[in-house]
Amino acid sequence: MPASTVHEVYRYGWLRDGSWCAYAMDRGGRPDASARWHHWVAETLLRHEHRVDEALDAVATGTVDGRVMTPARFTLAGEEEPVDPTHEWPNFQTDCYGFWLWAAVDHVRRNGGRVDSTVERAMRLVVRYLMGVGETPCYDCWEEYPGLLHTSSLAAVSAGLRDAGDLLGESAARGQAEVIRQRLLGEEFTLASGFVRSAGGDTRVDGSLLWLGVPFELVPLDSDVFQITVKRVREELRAPGGGVRRYLGDSFYGGSQWILLAASLGRVALAEGNVEEARELLAWIQGTATSEGFLPEHVAVDVCSPHMLAFGGKRWGATAAPLLWSPAMHLVLLKELRP
Ligand code: BGC
Repeated sequence: MPASTVHEVYRYGWLRDGSWCAYAMDRGGRPDASARWHHWVAETLLRHEHRVDEALDAVATGTVDGRVMTPARFTLAGEEEPVDPTHEWPNFQTDCYGFWLWAAVDHVRRNGGRVDSTVERAMRLVVRYLMGVGETPCYDCWEEYPGLLHTSSLAAVSAGLRDAGDLLGESAARGQAEVIRQRLLGEEFTLASGFVRSAGGDTRVDGSLLWLGVPFELVPLDSDVFQITVKRVREELRAPGGGVRRYLGDSFYGGSQWILLAASLGRVALAEGNVEEARELLAWIQGTATSEGFLPEHVAVDVCSPHMLAFGGKRWGATAAPLLWSPAMHLVLLKELRP
């Protein structure tokens, strides 16, 4: 599954984007499609097993280089993207591998509990990878801010290791998942009791922090740490009556409002019993559909920087629509509102 079926830049298959889509297909009555995608990921990763060993060596010998680490995305044929000497596109994003483990286990659990043998071998490979690499500073889930430990990336790693550890009976993975979870609750990743986007002094809140509660379930929804984080998302990132920005100071397309994050906040609201807010977010999402009925990656209204919006358009072209994780997460929220 490409990130977008039509947009030139998004013609690759990202593990993160695909995981959200597979998660939605399982909920939308298309487990066959989800199974095919997980199989594609498993075969692709097993073909690149040598890359996992190279990455583990790099971490063990302290020679981490983004190009050695395993990719965030592959071509639709399951190959690494061709190197473009004029433009290095960051690939080292550990969350992608945590996302895949988490979504693959979710798929197995929702479909009878039997694991396909190819998927199981790939899961064990990814567990081995994340046990060595999972706490290495890298790019965040937005493919930005290299060289830092990002809260939502560690959250994806922890959730993936926890779920795969449970499913495969790998107690070391389960143990490591809990060590990471405890680390996330410590002062590196929290401030005034709420989560911050990264360790090392970036104290901003980020929409991706919602995932620590839903769907990763790393903290109880009513815990102070999560409640304060969600309050900050509502106060600092939610556009009045609109969608949700990624973080303050975002310059990508001027700092726009994201469908994925609006759906994520809608799910948190619903889990808290705030049906009205969830409905309002759903209505906002539906209102962003193009005339063909496609949902875009984000909506550039009321942006933080019109100058950076113009720059984004020149550099990457029109906003990708459909960007598949947007309709995927719209579907998930819709189903939860109208089971
Ligand atoms: C986003 C990433 C995403 C990629 C493909 C980027 O613009 O920041 O999170 O994985 O697009 O959709």
